[in-house]
Amino acid sequence: MKVVMVLYPGGPAAKENPELLGCAENALGLRKFIESQGHELVSITDTGAELERHLPTTHVLVATPFWPAYMTRERIQMSPELRLLLTAGVGSDHFDLAAAAERRITVAEITGSNVVSVAEHVVMQVLALVRNYMPSYEDVVHGGWNIGPLAARSHDLEDKTVGIVGMGRIGQRVAARLKPFDVRMFYYDNRRLSAAEEQVLGARFLPLDTLVPECDVISINAPLTPATERLFNLERLRRMKKGAYLVNTARGRIVDTQALVDVLKDGHLAGYAGDVWYPQPATPDHPWRTMPHHAMTPHVSGTTLEAQRRYANGVKECLAAFFDGRPIEREYLIAEGGKIVSPSYSYAYT
Ligand code: NAI
Repeated sequence: MKVVMVLYPGGPAAKENPELLGCAENALGLRKFIESQGHELVSITDTGAELERHLPTTHVLVATPFWPAYMTRERIQMSPELRLLLTAGVGSDHFDLAAAAERRITVAEITGSNVVSVAEHVVMQVLALVRNYMPSYEDVVHGGWNIGPLAARSHDLEDKTVGIVGMGRIGQRVAARLKPFDVRMFYYDNRRLSAAEEQVLGARFLPLDTLVPECDVISINAPLTPATERLFNLERLRRMKKGAYLVNTARGRIVDTQALVDVLKDGHLAGYAGDVWYPQPATPDHPWRTMPHHAMTPHVSGTTLEAQRRYANGVKECLAAFFDGRPIEREYLIAEGGKIVSPSYSYAYT
């Protein structure tokens, strides 16, 4: 079998820190494992021509959301041998799931591998926005001491209303971590939690259109599907409370690119943060880089060193099963046997 990994470049950090498993140089720490089983491993960073050169002979493609190899329908057609698409991480929208399912290609991801890492990032970015951290930090670095304008945009999180859109593994961890801040919390998900789960998390269900205008802070934690693409379009962004904050660590395409710039420029939203963009890597002139009142990072929340270890182990587990002809862990499966089987995705594809 030929396994192709498309991973981000580690640069000098790849050698300096062998724990940086998720880069192309370190190939998830799986080179020996794959080659010792008699299979071929190609680990590349190029998501364009070099990837396409390998596609006709690739059996397994491993990619990450942080440095996506966009496997479009055309590219899937260029890959007659392809049998397994694996996401080293969580979120498999970089693969055309419908096209993969039609070809009966198995799609799997390492469910749960980085959910704590992302939830911590969300909490950090919520606080960064609400407390006006980024301008305060910039002020210090640039020699200032401008308490007035900095304090004029700084709030407590306590007593604010928080909304979570997508109450799955990450959404629930965000809720658990924000509950001790004494916030009022609502959530929307197309699968409602039990009353006991709602009580433990301190979050009440609201339909999306009721939740949106209620909240001072909204965190998006739903997958990108045909149902969530541009879910936060201009109309919905305008329905958010004036002066509210939006944090999106789910996927860039869930928020309309230009509409977001407009509502930040005219002050309707007080701030935006997250780590997901479209396309990725973001172009140097991507408008979100320079829009006002943002606290964005590159796509790093789900690739802490601990997360890399977890998703590398998960990829190894999936490859071992695949090489031995055993079934892949059910919880990891997104598409199998010609169907989209993950409950977080399937409703949007039927
Ligand atoms: P999950 O599958 O545990 O939870 C997703 C939740 O979203 C489910 O409860 C599902 O019912 C809900 N959902 C699906 N469609 C919805 C819709 N139209 N409206 C409202 N809710 C909807 O997945 P998990 O682990 O919580 O991850 C969620 C997403 O976060 C991933 O799909 C991925 O896109 C993103 N992610 C980002 C990372 C990063 O590094 N920034 C890392 C990991 C995940």
